[in-house]
Amino acid sequence: MLRTICSFLFVVIAWCTVEPIDAIAQQENNPPVVKILDPINKSSYDLNSQMRYRIKVSDKEDGESEYDEIAGNEVFLEVRYLLDAAKVSMLSKIDPKGLELMKKSNCFNCHAFNGKLIAPSFTEIGKRYPQNASNIERLAKRVLEGSTGVWGSASMPTHPELSVQESRDIISWILENAQNPDLNYYTGTEGSIKLKSRDGSVQKGAFMLSATYSDHGAKNSSKQSLTTKDVILLYVK
Ligand code: HEC
Repeated sequence: MLRTICSFLFVVIAWCTVEPIDAIAQQENNPPVVKILDPINKSSYDLNSQMRYRIKVSDKEDGESEYDEIAGNEVFLEVRYLLDAAKVSMLSKIDPKGLELMKKSNCFNCHAFNGKLIAPSFTEIGKRYPQNASNIERLAKRVLEGSTGVWGSASMPTHPELSVQESRDIISWILENAQNPDLNYYTGTEGSIKLKSRDGSVQKGAFMLSATYSDHGAKNSSKQSLTTKDVILLYVK
């Protein structure tokens, strides 16, 4: 009898402990896998070489980039020139707040970091507005409320999903980084990049390529979004 009661209790306890774990497992979000396939890590190139890049993204919930299940404009590639390749280990592994917010918003659909799309590039915006408190306030307000007629006839939509502080964080990041000639951003799982440095006379150094993808969380709840970054290094010949 005691044995029966004990085994009954054991089953009840086992059921009680297993059930919640199971429920959590169902909502769990798996991190994406991001891999730069081309170019090859630690290979050497001449400065100013133009090359194709390819990034593979696999996410248990969102799908596979190979099957076009990942939106190209949600995959980012940062190309950063470093005079000293050893500095790579000193760079932060996570994106600064402003950049992270921009990647999760729709900014890069219309603005290129440096290049022509329907909106002015962030490099052009950085050139026009020096980094100071009044420009940060002015532009943060424009991003929230939308803008038209400053650069041409195309308009920027409002961004009610951003808070005032988030908009300020974004603008601070743009005004601080967008004019850095050693930095560039590309969107898409494949494309073409050029290995440029600030100073054309310098013939050494390395390029750090970092690919990121932020997933859509479990059941499309972006609150649980997870980001993966893959980093490779290319040396200047
Ligand atoms: C649908 C396209 C579109 C999207 C999405 C978009 N922009 Fe814009 N943005 C524009 C256009 C077009 C202009 C130029 C508007 C003008 O001439 O007043 C602009 C202008 C700007 C300016 C300069 C404003 C000024 O007064 O000079 C900033 C800064 C800016 N955008 C940042 C952002 C940020 C940050 C995001 C994402 C949160 C974003 N944009 C999303 C199209 C877009």
